[in-house]
Amino acid sequence: MGYLGYFPEDFLFGVATASYQIEGAWNEDGKGESIWDRFAHTPGNILDGTTGDVACDHYHCFAEDVALMQELGVSAYRFSISWPRVLPSGKGAVNEKGLAFYRRLIEKLKEAGIKPVVTLYHWDLPQALQDRGGWESEETVEAFAEYARLLFATFGDDVHLWITHNEPWVVAFIGNYEGRHAPGKRDFQAALRVARNLLLAHGHAVRVFREVNPKGAIGITLNLSPVHPLTEEQEDREAAWRFDGYLNRFFLDPLFRGQFPEDMLTFYRKKGFILEPFTEEERALVAQPLDFLGINYYSRHVVRKGEEPVLETGEHQNPYVERSDMGWEVYPRGIYEIVERVTKEYQPQTIYITENGFAFPDTLQNGTVNDERRIAYLRDHLLWLYQTLEAGYPVKGYFVWSIMDNFEWAFGFSKRFGLVYIDYATQQRIPKRSFFFYREVIRRRSIR
Ligand code: FCB
Repeated sequence: MGYLGYFPEDFLFGVATASYQIEGAWNEDGKGESIWDRFAHTPGNILDGTTGDVACDHYHCFAEDVALMQELGVSAYRFSISWPRVLPSGKGAVNEKGLAFYRRLIEKLKEAGIKPVVTLYHWDLPQALQDRGGWESEETVEAFAEYARLLFATFGDDVHLWITHNEPWVVAFIGNYEGRHAPGKRDFQAALRVARNLLLAHGHAVRVFREVNPKGAIGITLNLSPVHPLTEEQEDREAAWRFDGYLNRFFLDPLFRGQFPEDMLTFYRKKGFILEPFTEEERALVAQPLDFLGINYYSRHVVRKGEEPVLETGEHQNPYVERSDMGWEVYPRGIYEIVERVTKEYQPQTIYITENGFAFPDTLQNGTVNDERRIAYLRDHLLWLYQTLEAGYPVKGYFVWSIMDNFEWAFGFSKRFGLVYIDYATQQRIPKRSFFFYREVIRRRSIR
């Protein structure tokens, strides 16, 4: 690695959250039910039996949370809007109280000099839409465009960056194939249909954005990971390439080239699944120029030929590497690899790392949390991120997941990712040592 210099002055250092994971107030002030409300309320779906009903109570504590961010010194805050909070049935009647909450939040951020970065869809679909087919249905695609229009018209000029979807791969395949997320389906065909519709919905939202033409910029966030074959054997290399097609190229190719990867179209067809290539009209919609690509980076995958029923791959779990509490390998170089690859193969105008972070079973000791391993994780990823700038890749910002511990989906409150510790019994916020580490990084724009 080269000389360690300074991140540019306009580089955004931020933190990220998502509505269902922090807000709570699940049925307050006219909010409609989301698929995550339904999923978490169904016994057996969440590891520790908890729900996001209260979560971090951010709906009521947002002012305190913004004050913490100000103390941290971030220049941007990435959060998502709960669709059923503003449109309880997914479309039609607007819940003014829901919009008012986000207006208050944006106002507070403005006062604090923090740029709002808003995700339209971070997984909490209105249950009313799910009841009519959810993302498998075109109705949801159309409703998403209208929901986007409402948000652009209401908050357009106050939002710095808009993100259409967060991690469509997770929505499609964890929610509809593996069934570990809402809506909890286990149907690969349904997942393919969902993935296709998510891309179309993204395209519609971008089109509406260009029409409304607010001040900010628009993009999408993908979860991307390097996929490495376990051995150099042909079979393992093929399996790794297929897994890469499943995870990375399945979204990158349509967004930047207008079509699903040919090898995946062929592979899925051979397996008996229906996946319609995009028509010319759809291609133009899905591959509209974006202002930026958001990348969530946590880990890599090491893949071999294996027993996974659809993909016929297997994931190698090397027992000799460091892992987070999620079981994800700590692989800091991957942030460089993925930025380099995406820049070379797809040429996005700008890249933001919209999430990166580390889960650890933190404990409070004498009123503080000494989360050394999180600090090491963040430092090593920032070191490699800095190398992407040295190499001239267009990375303009980095967001830590997360400002505070929160509801980690199917794992409930059993996984802690925060820079701030949450005592869920009292809702007390206690900055961990990593909070002060990140504050120093931001202050100096450097990791030295
Ligand atoms: C990502 C999600 C985010 C959070 C982190 C740990 O996949 O976007 O909501 O749960 O993982």
